[in-house]
Amino acid sequence: MSRTMRKWGWMAVAAAAVAAAGWTGAASAAEESAAGDGAAAPSRVLIVYFSHSGITKGIAERLQKKTGGALHRIEPANAYPEEYQAVLAQARKEIGEGFKPELKGDLPSLDGIDLVLVGGPVWVGTLAPPLASFLAQVDLKGKTVAPFCTYGGGLRDYFQHVKAAVSGEATVPDGLGLGREQLKMKEEDIDKAVADWAAKLPKPAAE
Ligand SMILES: Cc1cc2nc3c(=O)[nH]c(=O)nc-3n(C[C@H](O)[C@H](O)[C@H](O)COP(=O)(O)O)c2cc1C
Repeated sequence: MSRTMRKWGWMAVAAAAVAAAGWTGAASAAEESAAGDGAAAPSRVLIVYFSHSGITKGIAERLQKKTGGALHRIEPANAYPEEYQAVLAQARKEIGEGFKPELKGDLPSLDGIDLVLVGGPVWVGTLAPPLASFLAQVDLKGKTVAPFCTYGGGLRDYFQHVKAAVSGEATVPDGLGLGREQLKMKEEDIDKAVADWAAKLPKPAAE
């Protein structure tokens, strides 16, 4: 039985997170519906994200709470400039050239991980180069890669670009995109959007 065919183990994941991190929050309705019935083998979730100015980081942290998954922040070995015009110029150049920057630190292990939530800002209508570096370096065969992103005014074909970046290795469900306007919503509405998306992530068929 392949790993992707395992019964989804959200409740086991949440229980492990409580044990590991001492998180004692009651499971929300979304978490409970994501748990499915009688989750058997534990499945593990990894949330990988790049965030230049911290907005996607906030969404990644909410997803961590919803899923109990492990959180891994991607950072380029050479940090981008803070100043908007400078980072925009560098991003345009790198994306135009298909440049994939070196990443800082070790890549996270994907052993035993079924679901990888991959988040980042929309940069120049596509993935920020550090995220493209990550997707090019890891073996995603047989995994589900669920993309989430934050953006200013235009999501454009971001999720199609994610699909192309995983080059058919992984299953890519519908993504979560939160634009500037949605990010102005009340905290609980953002939380609901995140929870609703997490609850809809595909569950592998029962064993
Ligand atoms: C270099 C750069 C390029 C960007 N390109 C786009 C874009 O093409 N479309 C868009 O809607 N927003 C664009 N944005 C805005 C970011 O996607 C948005 O502010 C995002 O929420 C930032 O997330 P972060 O704080 O996690 O880095 C860009 C921002 C930067 C810095």
